Amino acid sequence: MQDVKTEKKEFTPNIVAFCCNWCSYAGADLAGSSRLSYPANVKIIRVPCSCRVNPMFVLKAFQQGADGVILCGCHPGDCHYVTGNYYTRRRMALLYSFLNYMGIEKARTRLEWVSAAEGQRFSAVMNDFVKTVTELGENKRLTDLRVKEGE
Ligand code: FES
Repeated sequence: MQDVKTEKKEFTPNIVAFCCNWCSYAGADLAGSSRLSYPANVKIIRVPCSCRVNPMFVLKAFQQGADGVILCGCHPGDCHYVTGNYYTRRRMALLYSFLNYMGIEKARTRLEWVSAAEGQRFSAVMNDFVKTVTELGENKRLTDLRVKEGE
């Protein structure tokens, strides 16, 4: 009989972070240039404004294997396009209730306001989000099984 090793691989979540160009992406940049660390498994997608993120993007990210999706934008009142993040806030509130209805843990998604001067905050938010999603474990509910087959 063959000796089977049952090594338990440490779970590293796939995190997608949508960051608006004018504040949060610059905050991520500042975190990097200030040598503040945040997990390498956070994949940043730069968007012109947080309101560019259609809630379907979040669902699609989950479907494609993301374990957590975070959306970062300018603080309320600071959006480069004046009211963009107000739309984002309302859309995400609706998305949260939809995810709740579907039985997806709310903690897998998060909306945060990070300004261009808040590199430290960006790092802290990402570290905390990754820790939360790691505790939740793998996202199994929305993952498209065809995506898993390719691994
Ligand atoms: Fe940053 Fe609109 S430009 S949220």
